[in-house]
Amino acid sequence: MIKEKRPIIIDTDPGIDDAVALSIALNHPELDVQLLTTVAGNVNVHKTTENTLKLVSFFEKQVPVAKGCDKPLLIQLEDSAEIHGESGMDGYDFPKATAKALDIHAVEAMKDCILSSSEPITLVPIAALTNIALLLSMYPETKQNIKEIVMMGGSLSRGNTNTSAEFNTYVDPHAAQIVFQSGIPIVMVGLDVTSTALLTKNETEKIKAFGKVGNMFYSLFQHYRGGSLQTGLKMHDVCAIAYLTDPDLFTVQETFIEIALDGPAAGATVADLKMKYHDSTNATACLDIDIPAFQKWVVSNLEKIN
Ligand code: RIB
Ligand code: CA
Repeated sequence: MIKEKRPIIIDTDPGIDDAVALSIALNHPELDVQLLTTVAGNVNVHKTTENTLKLVSFFEKQVPVAKGCDKPLLIQLEDSAEIHGESGMDGYDFPKATAKALDIHAVEAMKDCILSSSEPITLVPIAALTNIALLLSMYPETKQNIKEIVMMGGSLSRGNTNTSAEFNTYVDPHAAQIVFQSGIPIVMVGLDVTSTALLTKNETEKIKAFGKVGNMFYSLFQHYRGGSLQTGLKMHDVCAIAYLTDPDLFTVQETFIEIALDGPAAGATVADLKMKYHDSTNATACLDIDIPAFQKWVVSNLEKIN
């Protein structure tokens, strides 16, 4: 039985793990990617936009791309070019993008898309939440047509950018606070699952054999510093896409999450997992993932793209 295609908007900062996530989402039969919006994060927004246009062109998809914020709401951008390379997608020489970005800002494009949709849209931010926070602040009426936010970000335990904070919520903690206070249902796919859901040599050697697409990914994997080909590659953003189509891969818990805004834990997502301090919840947090099933899911979805 073919499921109804789920309308989604992906907010992204490619980023090599973003590239894998976008590739699966753009080609998945159950997902209707209505819009891609870009934001500063892994690298600057000019590069994340160019990278998104290159991917849309590579897969010959007619999906609109809109460029978003070039810096966090209040603080300076700290990128992670050391993980993804200076271009943000080092390792593969993509053909020049044929697609062009819309001439409106990502926030305007999201507002238009959401308000004109006949069914509620799922927002899938896999980057800092700057665009999302501005959308909800400038156009609160969009909330009524947003089904939920399924985000890669945050952590219930250690961080990957400071001791406690994951990169996406670290980059723009003020935006993260606005989003978690919005009242919109949120699924937080954080480091607790994304740092364990590795692509090992078993998977990357299979992917390498998938023709032009496999060659592209394997070339990127050789430059990606979110792990390594030898120790396993962390597919952070891909986990958010997996949640959309296969939520049963995940173990989740309803909780209340607050954001630390400054100090040594700035950007940390502080979860009241025992609900000692709150009498209501604002997020579904992912605690665990079926790693072998996830690995199989990634390989089979990339193989289908060919
Ligand atoms: O912490 C991992 C997240 O930060 C991923 O979205 C990765 O692409 C980077 O943006
Ligand atoms: Ca990302």
